[in-house]
Amino acid sequence: MAGFIDQIEPLKQAAIAELGAAPDLAALEQARVNYLGSNGKFTALMKQLGGLPKEEKPAAGKAVNLAKIELEAALTSRRGELELKAAPPKEPTDFTLPGRRRTLGKLHPLTQVTEDIVRSFRKIGFVVADGPEVEDEYHCFDALNTPADHPARDTQDTFYVGGAEIRSPKSETNPKSEIRNPNSEARAQVAEPSQQRSSALHPPLAILPPTGSLLRTHTSSVQIRVMQKQQPPVRIIVPGRVYRRDNADATHNPTFHQVEGLYVDRNVTVGDLKGTVEFVFRELMGPETRIRFRPHYFSYTEPSFEIDFSSSLTRKMGKEWLEIAGCGMVHPQVFENVGYDPEVWTGWAFGFGIERIAMIRYGINDIRLFYENDTRFLRQF
Ligand code: DAH
Repeated sequence: MAGFIDQIEPLKQAAIAELGAAPDLAALEQARVNYLGSNGKFTALMKQLGGLPKEEKPAAGKAVNLAKIELEAALTSRRGELELKAAPPKEPTDFTLPGRRRTLGKLHPLTQVTEDIVRSFRKIGFVVADGPEVEDEYHCFDALNTPADHPARDTQDTFYVGGAEIRSPKSETNPKSEIRNPNSEARAQVAEPSQQRSSALHPPLAILPPTGSLLRTHTSSVQIRVMQKQQPPVRIIVPGRVYRRDNADATHNPTFHQVEGLYVDRNVTVGDLKGTVEFVFRELMGPETRIRFRPHYFSYTEPSFEIDFSSSLTRKMGKEWLEIAGCGMVHPQVFENVGYDPEVWTGWAFGFGIERIAMIRYGINDIRLFYENDTRFLRQF
């Protein structure tokens, strides 16, 4: 069968000519059957391949396969042409029709409120600071002068990460002691990078080493981290997510957002605190907003206050005054803990919930709406 290879080219040319000349899809199909169908001429040629002498087979097989690929390409291309001819647009295209609009997304109401808060504080010289959401007990509690038996540290309020949740008050005095979560070794390793990071931040200043890891219950922990890193003056705000073991209801959610503020300098007074809070709340809630301070207790401030505010928004909710934030003058022990001299430095701090501000501002009555990602809700802001 020396002529096998010689037969390929003429047959291929004939097939391509016939496929290319097919005037419609039916004729094209007929041409396909003529050559590539099971009884087609090209198929017949391929069947002869088996009878070739062994040494001719590789070259012949290669040539015939290449030809087949060309035929299939010619078939596909002609089919495309014919299909296009067979189905022209029924009506002329109207290029003046407006395009399809994509719906534009927008910022989440909590992001909008956060950005407004940040913008107001920037005007008066504050910068944004940040800290880890997986914290240690030292930064979240101890350094803020919140003792080990304080209810805020209770497992009812705090999500612990790793073995710390089974640490009893007794083992608190001896953190290495016994009752160990079976997973605590593995988890301790996971927690290690953050512990390394935190210890790198406060080598000579820290009084206590970082202990168990937890999800921060407030943004106040970042006060400590910032003061450990830099010398006064300090003027920061810290917007961020916090976590508490609350059941979700209309006013609680296990994760929510806070803004912390800290100002440290010489001769800082409660007057500075009140003036600053008043400025920011007027920007946020309207120029006729009034604020008042009520005595309160926080372990990291002395004296401490709760801040109430009053505006047309509170009156709309049927109240003259609404509690909105906690604040106070930084406790001298907190300064000691970060290595600031409390005889030289004075300061104030405050913290408030961003959801609460947004709910009052927009008249939202259920905190859970913020997290459902229902665009019918979100689109309104
Ligand atoms: N950390 C407090 C909370 O989560 C809020 C707070 C109160 C922050 C007083 C402060 C402060 O900085 O001085 O409820």
